[in-house]
Amino acid sequence: MTTTPLREGSSEAPPQAAGGSRFAASTARIPASAGVGFKHAHLDAILSDPGPVGFLEVHAENYMGDGGFPHRALERVRRDFPLSLHGVCMSIGGPRPLSADHLDRFRALVERYEPALVSEHLAWSTHDEVFMNDLLPLPYTEETLGHVCAHVERMQDHIGRRILLENPSTYVVFDNSTMSETDFLREIVRRTGCGLLLDVNNVFVSATNHGFSPMSYLVDYPMEHVGEIHLAGHAVQEDDEGDPLLIDSHDAPVADAVWDLFSVVVRQCGPVPTLVEWDSDLPDWPVLRAEAEAADRILDEAARTFMMGKSHATGS
Ligand SMILES: [Fe+2]
Repeated sequence: MTTTPLREGSSEAPPQAAGGSRFAASTARIPASAGVGFKHAHLDAILSDPGPVGFLEVHAENYMGDGGFPHRALERVRRDFPLSLHGVCMSIGGPRPLSADHLDRFRALVERYEPALVSEHLAWSTHDEVFMNDLLPLPYTEETLGHVCAHVERMQDHIGRRILLENPSTYVVFDNSTMSETDFLREIVRRTGCGLLLDVNNVFVSATNHGFSPMSYLVDYPMEHVGEIHLAGHAVQEDDEGDPLLIDSHDAPVADAVWDLFSVVVRQCGPVPTLVEWDSDLPDWPVLRAEAEAADRILDEAARTFMMGKSHATGS
């Protein structure tokens, strides 16, 4: 397991946005190693055979009830692992004010579990009083930028923590977008002081679906603000014209092309806490553990390459 470089959530100099952030990172430490999404079915296996897993991530909305087995399970693993709290229903990209109730429930989880990382999506999922079970894309315009930045600031103010914002996987683009996704993210960071969660699988899915190069996206992506990386499997389908259509399904091993992109990213920006997401068609623990091992091997290699590059650069 990679144990040295510590990033966002570390007590050792977490990365800051260009203008700095007035929100403290957690005092909890998180290693720049592999983590996995915590599923209750894996509880006993994770505790007895964690392998290289250095942290766990949970979806905040699964723990917004008062008690019961979910909280008992999370309290147990929290004793052994740093935690990343990942929101999926805040609807940061929606035009309406964020739900005060949802913000209160989210803050209660932050206070109860003291996660090292907190993240949400660049997406929307509510319309009027309806909550949809999807992370929907938004046009990248000055108007939506204003909504997103106001919502990121509202969330950070309410929970008292800096958040990481995740790039989406998308299946449509909007004619009225006036800026690229990477410029949109860069401007959110500049205005709000939030950090970024780079989902490499989402980049590959969107690039394939829209016919652009994932490398060109990554070259333009503001890597200096990345506090966490996501990896996941996707489903391969065809659209009505017979062109490849990738679905961000989180139900399969990470694809070879995504491993290759991940390797390029961490060689460039150094090791970062990296989560393997697997949310449906759950495998037995050894399969998910092997995915974490694969991520950890690449992080270890990146740590060596990155440190070597730094020592060459400084002449030490
Ligand atoms: Fe993700």
